Amino acid sequence: MTWPGIIERYRAHLPVTRKTPVVTLLEGNTPLLHSPALSERAGRGIAVYLKCEGLNPTGSFKDRGMTLAISKAVEAGSVAVLCASTGNTSASASAYAARAGLRSIVLIPSGAIALGKLSQALIHNASVAAVDANFDACLAIARSMAQQHRVTLVNSVNPHRIEGQKTCAFEICDVLGRAPDLHLTPVGNAGNITAQWKGYTEYFRLRKISRLPVMLGFQAQGAAPLVLGRIIKQPHTVATAIRIGNPASWQGAVTAAAQSHGGIRAVTDREILHAYRLLAREDGVFAEPASAASVAGLLKLAGQGFFKRVKRPAGRPLTIVCILTGHGLKDPERAVKSVRAPALLAPSISAICKAVGLR
Ligand code: F0G
Repeated sequence: MTWPGIIERYRAHLPVTRKTPVVTLLEGNTPLLHSPALSERAGRGIAVYLKCEGLNPTGSFKDRGMTLAISKAVEAGSVAVLCASTGNTSASASAYAARAGLRSIVLIPSGAIALGKLSQALIHNASVAAVDANFDACLAIARSMAQQHRVTLVNSVNPHRIEGQKTCAFEICDVLGRAPDLHLTPVGNAGNITAQWKGYTEYFRLRKISRLPVMLGFQAQGAAPLVLGRIIKQPHTVATAIRIGNPASWQGAVTAAAQSHGGIRAVTDREILHAYRLLAREDGVFAEPASAASVAGLLKLAGQGFFKRVKRPAGRPLTIVCILTGHGLKDPERAVKSVRAPALLAPSISAICKAVGLR
């Protein structure tokens, strides 16, 4: 059977009826990839998996929420959708809106979103407003605009987004046959960790899993309001996707962390970029910097001896899933900046061999 997209696959768990028009790009069913390199770094008896959400149709996990948000918008008779975005939400909203024949309007913090994401919104024919303000201010404006005009807001304050995104947790459980012991995820506006926890708890109530994971969220140090417990007026980090100072789903993240006996922690830009390069070099996985926050968190916790203190399951490895939220090609400029640029060479075999280290 070909994969039908997350709405058809998880229909029984989602707020849709037979009347809901399904707008899908066949999102979901992303690889849960074992990482030998990270498993070894995490310690003996630990299996680390990467949930490669960058392999969704528009290159990020947002597609899970967007298929539902756009389907419900069409069902409600909406003709236009609106969002504020650090890039991925706008890419996803504009693609799904295009598919549905809706207008899309996106507010982005000018100069602060990755090039790949901007190109997506533009090519999908969104009306792009590049605003001279940060994401938090853009979201506040988008919320007011949605109250004053006949447009559907498709940020994760729209509950359908959370409903769709919870399917990431379902897929992980379906593949592993249980929940992971620890679930590590980047946190920005905090919709995703909220959604993932909702997914696990629903599967738990339905007895599809017998244990819940410990949820560990990671924010960038310069944009870590949930760690500091206060709004950050001017958040900063190289991980532009999670440059957010006042997360909309603040309470959802706090609840997920508290109920699962986990937490929200910070990783530095240095740690994020180290994890970003390591994933690419040792695992062959190109994820965007914000995504690498979960792996930066894993490496940090391993360095602190955290996993040695975690209770081990009997007869199987401790299972850790790191969510890689978006594809590395979203931000090609960062990739090129993160390594030494190649020198310009003459078209001579000897010069080229010398430069690439072939004797
Ligand atoms: N990783 C990536 C690649 C993201 O784009 C985002 C959020 C997150 C992590 C954090 O997820 O907000 O649910 O906690 N991007 C949003 C956007 C804000 O506009 O694309 P979150």
